[in-house]
This record gives sequence, structure tokens and C-alpha cells, in this order.
Amino acid sequence: MKTYEEVKKEIADAGQEQLLRWYGDLTEEEKASLLGQIESIDTTYLSAFAARGEETKRGVISPIRAMSIEERSKREDIFREKGVKAIREGRLGLVLLAGGMGTRLGSKDPKGMYDIGKTRHVYIFQRLIENILKNIHTTGAFSHLFIMTSEKNDIATRAFFKENGCFGYPADYVHFFRQEMAPVVDPDGEILLADKGVLATSPNGNGGWFTSLLKAGYGDLMEKEGIDYLNVFAVDNVLQNIGDPVFFGAVLDGGYPCGSKVVRKNSRDEKVGVMCLEDGRPSVIEYFEMTDAMLDEKNEAGLPAYAFGVILNYLFSVPALKKVMDEKMQVHFANKKVAYLDEKGTHVEPAEPNAWKFEYFILDQVHELTSCLPYEVERGKEFAPIKNLTGTDSVESARALCEENGIEL
Ligand code: UD1
Repeated sequence: MKTYEEVKKEIADAGQEQLLRWYGDLTEEEKASLLGQIESIDTTYLSAFAARGEETKRGVISPIRAMSIEERSKREDIFREKGVKAIREGRLGLVLLAGGMGTRLGSKDPKGMYDIGKTRHVYIFQRLIENILKNIHTTGAFSHLFIMTSEKNDIATRAFFKENGCFGYPADYVHFFRQEMAPVVDPDGEILLADKGVLATSPNGNGGWFTSLLKAGYGDLMEKEGIDYLNVFAVDNVLQNIGDPVFFGAVLDGGYPCGSKVVRKNSRDEKVGVMCLEDGRPSVIEYFEMTDAMLDEKNEAGLPAYAFGVILNYLFSVPALKKVMDEKMQVHFANKKVAYLDEKGTHVEPAEPNAWKFEYFILDQVHELTSCLPYEVERGKEFAPIKNLTGTDSVESARALCEENGIEL
């Protein structure tokens, strides 16, 4: 570990002297911890922030063809057979992205602990496990489930799974790993302090999952078990089909390194990322990046050219991801309200966005791969995202969709 003098010099060169402002007030233990935190700052985020404005421009965007429900239903039996066989061989791992918090639901708990039940407890985590188990009744084989948490919700998430007996999933097949954290900066790029000896940090976005999974040491387990594909999915979609053998079979059948479940957008302005081609490679463009021209563009059949929204349920080939993991991923910036310690030593709870958080997006990983199968699913059966308490994509709308699908709440 570096000495105080070494760290002091380094941060002075980097224009981050404020980090040691309260050093003299700290206990020996806190001092060591602070020096450790400073030493482990990943400067990639800071250089990306310094170079903002010169952000990489998007390439040439064009529509992509998806495998429609009609098209795949003709070959469903073949796909299912292939997928079931591969799952029985242990080739599929599942990755739940649960590093985000349930703040938009007004809860301080991890989002997956939210209870959508009406007459009984139905936690979001429980719904996801139930969905996995449904496929396991068909395949008869458990897949290893890797759950990504963050520093902010790791303890609570692990405890919740333990208390609930992993909702019936065998505990030997459930593995937790923490995603990495990124520093939080003020508009000048200076890292904020959360406390005198603590840097302000936030989870580094859902795109950091693969690096974090490997850093946690699960590469060995995957190798030992022969896991060569990972089905990565979001915590908030309580209807999604996870570990779906037909989807897996379709991806294997076409020899794709990646597959993405998509739904037909329900309106021009639905807030979902849209599958497209970017400079001839698969890509996802977020709803806020879509231009009016793209939103209004029609195909030869007179239908919207960019019609397929991603539901954040992807299949990735592990060897393919390993090959591209050294490629620099784009850092995204989000302007947020973040509590901090000001230069007078007062804790501030800002009313307006005061800070910048750094995030990697999983959708950028899709673009790094050579091809991706957009695989259409029925939105009424597989897409019930919970982003808010009421209204569109909410607890309310997800409950209604669960009930339509015969799920007792
Ligand atoms: C996401 C997708 C969007 C898609 C939509 C479908 C991204 C960037 N956006 O939007 O393309 O159409 O879902 O509902 O992929 N998470 C972490 N760690 C983090 C941040 C997020 O684990 O640091 C997890 C969340 O717990 C959640 C998932 O990533 O499971 C997506 O969360 P969020 O970043 O809120 O993206 P959305 O706006 O929901």
C-alpha cells in the first residue's frame, strides 16, 4: 500500500487534493481505509469525464431484422430440443442484475425485495425464481444462478435469499457477486466525499457485470461446469421467461454469440432501448437517443422501421465476451442528486442534481459482438417491468399483467 506522502503527491497531480482535506481528523484505521479507497480509484471514469463533449459519435444507424414470433414458432420444436439438451449439459448460466436500488419505488431495500403480493407475499425476487423454476420443470436441470449486487445492497440481498430458502432454488446453485463502484464527481470533475474518510461512490452501471463476475472468481466455476452461455436479465421484469430453452436453442441454432429478447414497441415513444444495426453491427439505441426521423421512419411494409424494444434479457457467449472484454467500453454520465460533505464539513442533501455518476451499459456489450439475434417475444406474456409505483411500467401495471397470466398475488 502507498504511503500518505505518495498518495498526496498523486492526487495533487490529478487535481483531487480535497480528498485528504480531513485526513488529520481521522483515526489510524480510517486513514488507512481512505488511502486504500483513493488508491483503488479507477481513473478511466475521470479521464472520460474530462474528455466529455468529445464523446464518441454514434455510427450509421439502420434497422435490424428480428426473428418474429411467427417465424420462430415454425421451428420451435427444433429450438426447444437444442436448448434443453444444452441446458442438461450444463452449458447455461443465469445472471441476475440486481445492483440497482428500489428508490423509485420509495423503498430503501433492494428492488427485488419489493412485495407485489395482494393476499400473500410475492416478492420480485420470488417471482423471478418461480419463472426460472418453471423452465426447470421442463429441462430437469438446474443452472447456476449468479446474482449481481452492489456495495449498497449486498448484505440485505444475501440475507433475504437466506431467510427465504432461496425461494426453492438449491442454495449450491446460487452465487452472489458485487459489482464495482465508481467515484462520484462534482461538475468540475472533483470527487466528492460522503464523509471525512469516505469517498462518494455509486454502482458502475449494469454493463460492469461481466468484469465483476470474473473478478469475483466465477470464471473457474464456469469453466469447470462447462458454462459457455449466460442469460443475463434485469431484476425488474416480473414476467420474464428466464433460462428459456427455446430462446437458447434459437441462438445456438444460428451460431450467434448473442441473443436479445425484444418486444414490439407499444407506442412511438415507449421508453425502451431499440435494437438496430450501427455501422453494420448489432446495437441498441436508448429511447432518449432516438431522433424524430428514426421514430417516424417506416419500412417497405409501411410499419415503424425501429419497432423492437429490448427487455433486458440477453444471451451472451462467454468465449465471445472474453475476447472483447479488453475493448474500451463507453462511460455514460448521469447528473444526479448525491449527498456529500462540503468544504466546511457539513453534510449536504441537495435538492437539485449536483453530481455526476458514471455508468457502463450492458447494451454497449451487444455492439462489441459481431452478431446478435433479436428474438421477439409476446409482451403480454414476458414483459412486466416495474420502474414506478403507479402508471406505466409500474407495480400496478405489472400486477395486472401477472393476474392476466394466471399468477396469484
Ligand atoms: C433498461 C435498459 C433498456 C431496456 C429496459 C427494459 C440499459 C442501460 N437499459 O432500462 O435498454 O429497454 O431496461 O425494461 O440496459 N443495474 C445494476 N447495477 C447498476 C445499474 C443497474 O445491477 O449499476 C440493474 C438494475 O438492478 C436493473 C437493470 O440493471 O435490473 C436495469 O436497470 P436500469 O439501469 O434502471 O435501466 P432501465 O432504465 O430500467
